[in-house]
Amino acid sequence: MNITHICADGYKNLDGVDISADSSLNVICGSNAQGKTNLIEAVWLCTGCKSFRLARDRSFIGFDKDKAAVSVEFENSFRTQKICFEAKKGSVKDKNITLNGVKVPLMSRLFGQLKCVVFTPDDLSLLKGSPENRRSFVDLSSSQLKPSFVSALNKYNNLIAQRNAAIKNINFGISVPDDLDVWDKQLAQTGAYISVIRYTYCNNLNDYTKKLYSEITGGNEELELYYSSTVFNSLENKTDYAGELADIYYNKLLRSRKDDIRVGYTLSGVHRDDVVTKINGLDAREFGSQGQQRSVAIAMKIAQAQVLRDQTGDSPVMLLDDVLSELDDSRKSFILGNIKDIQVFITCCDESFIEKNCSNGKIFRVSKGKITSG
Ligand SMILES: Nc1ncnc2c1ncn2[C@@H]1O[C@H](COP(=O)(O)OP(=O)(O)OP(=O)(O)O)[C@@H](O)[C@H]1O
Ligand SMILES: [Mg+2]
Repeated sequence: MNITHICADGYKNLDGVDISADSSLNVICGSNAQGKTNLIEAVWLCTGCKSFRLARDRSFIGFDKDKAAVSVEFENSFRTQKICFEAKKGSVKDKNITLNGVKVPLMSRLFGQLKCVVFTPDDLSLLKGSPENRRSFVDLSSSQLKPSFVSALNKYNNLIAQRNAAIKNINFGISVPDDLDVWDKQLAQTGAYISVIRYTYCNNLNDYTKKLYSEITGGNEELELYYSSTVFNSLENKTDYAGELADIYYNKLLRSRKDDIRVGYTLSGVHRDDVVTKINGLDAREFGSQGQQRSVAIAMKIAQAQVLRDQTGDSPVMLLDDVLSELDDSRKSFILGNIKDIQVFITCCDESFIEKNCSNGKIFRVSKGKITSG
C-alpha cells in the first residue's frame, strides 16, 4: 500500500499542504515546531485510529482557521482510494468524513482501509513503560491481522470488570466465592484464546525482530522477544484454547481465588501478561542503553509492518516520527536505507545528515506549516 497524495489545511498549523509522495522513502525535514509531527498525525487519523497525541477534536483546528481539512489518496495493487475529513470550528463533532466519496459516520469506521504503522517518541514506552504498553502493541498488531480479535479483548475486559465487581460483593458479604464460577468459566475460554493469539503473534514477530536487530547492529547484538504468560508455563504447540488451555486457565483462577478475594481484584490472567525482550541474553528493559532501547522499539515497529505485509500481502505505510535522534550514524543509515518494499514517511531535524545519506526518495521541507518538496 502506498500513499500517493496528501492535502492538509487548517489541521493544527498545516497550511495549504499539497504533496505527492514517493513510493519508497519520504523524508520530512524541518526545525522544531514547524509541523512535521502534525503531518504524520493528520495521516494517522485517516487510519481510523485515535490520535497518538490524544489531541482533543476541538484542539486540532488551526488557531486562525475556521476549518480543518485533510485528504489522503492511497493505492494498492487493486485500486486507488481516497479518505477525506473536514471539521468546522464550533461543530467539530460533526466531522464530514468520506471514503471514496461515500460518507462515513465515524473516524473509527475507517479502520482497516489505510493501513499504517506509526512510530512516535512515545513508542519508547514499548520498552521502558509498563507491560500494558507492550500488551496494547501486540493487541493492536494482532487486530490489524484479525479484526475479530478486538471483540475477544472487549469481552475479556467486560468479564474482568464483572468478576472484580463480584469479588467486591463477596467482601461486602452479598455474594459467596462460588458465585465467581460463572465468570471464571467464561474468562478461562476468552483468556486462553487471547493467550494463543498473542503468543503466536510474538513468536512470529520474533523471527523478524531478530533479523532486523542483527542488521541494525551490524551483527554485533542478538535480540530475543517472547510472550510471557502469567497463566501458562508454556504455550508451545498448544492451540486448544476451548479445551486443554481453558482448563489450565480455569484452574489457575480457582487457585488464586482466595488471594483475589483478599486483595479485592483478579490477580492473574492475560491482563497481567507481558512481552520480554533480551539483548544478548540480558533484559533490554533493565539493562539496555538508551540507543539500544530505541533500536529495539524501532525493530519491533518495522517488524510489525513486515508481518502485516507478509500475512496480508499488502504492506502498510510506515510513519516514523523522530526516530533518528539518539541513534549513531550507522543505525540511522540502516533505518533510511533498509526498509524494503514498504513506503516510509520519516521526520527529521538534521537536514545535513539526510542530504549526505539519502540517495533515494523525496525530501520535503516544512516551515511554519507549509511544505515544499526538493
Ligand atoms: N490548533 C493549532 N493551531 C495552530 N497551530 C497549532 C495547533 N496545535 C498545535 N499547533 C502548533 O503546531 C506547531 C508544530 O507542531 P509539530 O509538533 O508538528 O512540530 P514538529 O515540526 O514536529 O517539531 P519537533 O521537531 O519539535 O517535533 C507547534 O508550534 C504547535 O504550537
Ligand atoms: Mg515533532
